[in-house]
Amino acid sequence: MKKVTESMLHEWIQQAEPYKSLGTVADYIPALQKQKREDIAVSVYHLDNDCVGAGNLENTFTIQSISKVLALALALMDQGEDYVFARVGMEPSGDPFHSIAKLERTNPSKPLNPMINAGALAVTNMIMGSTPDEKVGRLLTLIHEMTNDQSIGYDEEVAHSEFETAFLNRSLSYFMKQHGVIEGSIEELLDAYTKQCAIEMNIKQLARVGAVLANEGRDLESGRQIIPVQLARICKTFMVTCGMYDASGSFAIRVGIPAKSGVSGAIVGALKGYGGIAVFGPALDERGNSVVGMQVLETMASRLELSIF
Ligand code: DON
Repeated sequence: MKKVTESMLHEWIQQAEPYKSLGTVADYIPALQKQKREDIAVSVYHLDNDCVGAGNLENTFTIQSISKVLALALALMDQGEDYVFARVGMEPSGDPFHSIAKLERTNPSKPLNPMINAGALAVTNMIMGSTPDEKVGRLLTLIHEMTNDQSIGYDEEVAHSEFETAFLNRSLSYFMKQHGVIEGSIEELLDAYTKQCAIEMNIKQLARVGAVLANEGRDLESGRQIIPVQLARICKTFMVTCGMYDASGSFAIRVGIPAKSGVSGAIVGALKGYGGIAVFGPALDERGNSVVGMQVLETMASRLELSIF
């Protein structure tokens, strides 16, 4: 597969830019409303450690649901596959990410997959750590290893803003507690989960996260195994089947790269044998995926024939 150059990225981002006025910036987490439509960016981290980018490379954003992939990797490392998948399923839901509907209709009641909010809350509950800050600290340590950058933390304002308004996520959590899927304090769980979603990075750091997943969980420079191969594979499989929520099927056809989106407007892709791809644009379509980001990924995938299918 052909490497991406900076001039290609400049061209594609210029073509996609008009789409920034379509869609809406998420406002159900009040602090996300401050994001600017024009802050768009794209980066590709090739597996040979060569990283290119275009757009606003300085801008930092919260990773939101992208954190679900990394929390899953950590919970699997902490507890093992059998324990985790006894509490969360492996099937796409076809519902919006915050839907509560199938929790009641699935018997025994467990969330369908770790990429919808219910499943992600159950996963965060399984991360080892006696306090929310210890859990988030361990997740940040994993991210520091993947990005080779110790400076990454979380945005306290965004975390607080979500914590104060996460009534639906509290409802999902209480429902699952009733059914024995999760245990412990729901307020502590929401504290950890909202901090996890508020982890903040720039586009190149996010592309490197994707590159480590693409590299079977290995560090790009030293080759050290950060996430076991089998677990990195599980994460990428969920990215294909559930990473773009109820748009995962059309995304697989249009783009064909394992990818995960977040309501901040970020999307990370992980392409085996190639590298990590990150796009950012806060205006979202009706499914919650970045409009500009989807456009750039579609162009990139078709020009360079990147689809895995
Ligand atoms: O739990 C939430 O609703 C947010 N913290 C994350 C949701 C999200 O990013 C869904 N993405 N498309």
